[in-house]
Amino acid sequence: MKLDGKVVVVTGSGSGIGAACARRFTAAGAKVVVTDLDAAKVEAVTAEIGAVGLAGDIGSPDTVRAVAELARRSHGEIDVWFSNAGITGPARPGDLKPDADWEQAFRVHVMAHLHAAREVAPAMVARGDGYLLSTASVVAMTTDARNATYSVSKHAALALAEWLAVTYRPQGIKVSCFCPGPMLTPMLLSEGFPADHPALARALTPEQVADLLVDAIGTEAFLILDSPMGRDELRAKLTDYDAWIDTTAARFAAPAGR
Ligand SMILES: NC(=O)c1ccc[n+]([C@@H]2O[C@H](COP(=O)([O-])OP(=O)(O)OC[C@H]3O[C@@H](n4cnc5c(N)ncnc54)[C@H](O)[C@@H]3O)[C@@H](O)[C@H]2O)c1
Repeated sequence: MKLDGKVVVVTGSGSGIGAACARRFTAAGAKVVVTDLDAAKVEAVTAEIGAVGLAGDIGSPDTVRAVAELARRSHGEIDVWFSNAGITGPARPGDLKPDADWEQAFRVHVMAHLHAAREVAPAMVARGDGYLLSTASVVAMTTDARNATYSVSKHAALALAEWLAVTYRPQGIKVSCFCPGPMLTPMLLSEGFPADHPALARALTPEQVADLLVDAIGTEAFLILDSPMGRDELRAKLTDYDAWIDTTAARFAAPAGR
């Protein structure tokens, strides 16, 4: 899909990848709707790019509905809904975390994507066109032993995207899931990696990611990766699942494990 003239909602667009995409998609001619939990960031990004926006918790179906209504009122039918908002929650190696952390991770990484699909898919099916894009993580193909809620909810985000693709692609809706490795955003930087950590060295900037996503949306391929990591993990699992578990466990047991 070409973004020129399209109505595009980007969630989590107050910061990081979402903000960079809001800028880049606007430059590509899209009519972007900005939404984020952080009202000050929504205000800053909308003012910068001349877009409309709404602050709210995208894990709530009421916010999803309000954002969709703002988009329709301002620009007409929604062409692309990019479910991108995310939270890591505290890293707790080897810990199964309290239920509240699981509920919050699933609200933002899964239920928000589900509510968005419920909100926009019927009109997209009626038109035989539209795009559901989501951000999961390369963690959806592996696991991060330091963060159970993030790992498992990102697997579920990819699983939901697969379901949406299988169900809606035959009806003309494009579905893609972005499964990136580390990216140089406030989320990654808040994790406190030392400056020489390999995760930082291989991370793309938000601007590089936004360019990559514009190209990927152009191809409409389901799986969007920013490095070979995701495919390597999938291949390793298929080759020998037990060996993959042992190798992954050893990686996280190492001092700089990730
Ligand atoms: N940065 C990385 O290394 C990395 C790697 C893989 C995947 N991701 C994923 O990329 C996506 C974008 O993250 P980022 O790196 O740009 O981080 P970021 O922290 O810069 O941006 C995430 C944004 O989501 C917003 N948000 C969080 N919870 C929300 C909620 N309930 N309602 C509305 N907005 C909410 C935050 O306020 C923030 O502005 C996330 O889904 C993240 O999990 C990031």
